[in-house]
Amino acid sequence: MGKTYNIGVLPGDGTGPEVVREALKVIDAAEGKFGFSTNREHYDFGGDRYLQTGEVLPDSASAELSKHDALLLGAIGHPDVKPGILEKGILLRLRFELDQYINLRPVKLFPGVDTPLKDKGPEHIDFVVVRENTEGLYAGAGGILRKGTPHEVAVQESINTRMGVERCLRYAYEYTKKRGKDNKLTLCGKTNVLTYAFDLWERAFNELASEYPTIERDYAHVDAICMWMVKNPEWFDVIVTDNMFGDIITDLGAMIQGGMGIAAGGNINPEGVSMFEPIGGSAPKYTGMNVINPLAAICASAMMLDELGETKAAVAIEKAVIEITSQKLDSLAAGRMGYSTTEVGDLVVAQLLK
Ligand code: IPM
Ligand code: MN
Repeated sequence: MGKTYNIGVLPGDGTGPEVVREALKVIDAAEGKFGFSTNREHYDFGGDRYLQTGEVLPDSASAELSKHDALLLGAIGHPDVKPGILEKGILLRLRFELDQYINLRPVKLFPGVDTPLKDKGPEHIDFVVVRENTEGLYAGAGGILRKGTPHEVAVQESINTRMGVERCLRYAYEYTKKRGKDNKLTLCGKTNVLTYAFDLWERAFNELASEYPTIERDYAHVDAICMWMVKNPEWFDVIVTDNMFGDIITDLGAMIQGGMGIAAGGNINPEGVSMFEPIGGSAPKYTGMNVINPLAAICASAMMLDELGETKAAVAIEKAVIEITSQKLDSLAAGRMGYSTTEVGDLVVAQLLK
């Protein structure tokens, strides 16, 4: 008998529910084929619930969600809600309260997918960003003084603790070893300017190295990383970086791997409950039209199964997605795939079950 997993499902806003529906359909198919099962509980956290009840997230949410084995999130962000309220009140709050200290974002160009990078193909674009997910500029430290006056002062501090930095770096070293591709870990920082924060990062990075003799260490400033991600993406295997830089470079990463339609990520607490999501937003203008690309959510569900230990299912889903991107889809863009959202989900299922 295979294992049973309890999954908390947070479809969220906009096109979130449509892509999550397709991801769950693919998980259903994987269950039959690989002999595991899931119990799912749905949560309605998001913009609509907030507009109806005035509550962004109940205080009990984290405790409730942490009872599950994993979480699958669609998207957070609503056109009628002021930017920041839902993002900070739901997504960031859950990342923090569930201590999901890693944001894992693979940047992989699948065969058949267009990249804006000239002369680059799947053999050049295949790396993973390990983004610290609970500290840095996202910690919310700082404040505003004399607001609205000519003497206003706004301070936003980057918080970097030895514990937080070290656990992120350790995860990145372990991940690089487990991945076993080029065994190369690149620290992305800004040691020439942010001489406090990245001094700590660099020292911890170098100190941990003795525990990982098989891993080659590399360092690059964040601005140079942006340049090389475009010019020489094949140089990268695993990149580790802080929260803010990780946020920025993974949007660049998403573009070189074919766009938001395919980019998936995991908010990981290796000792707790992790939450997987397509990294694109809620795409309000496509909501309810059945035209959004569900592949990012499907890839997120594959990452979730991998984290749960259903590695064979995860690998098979990724293979099925690759088959669909290389053989079927016209484009990964919403409305231009040549198929509807539902049909793309069906294609992946059919391929998986072949
Ligand atoms: C992401 C998003 C979030 C972030 C926003 C929505 C708060 O951009 O997951 O990358 O900045 O982390
Ligand atoms: Mn982002």
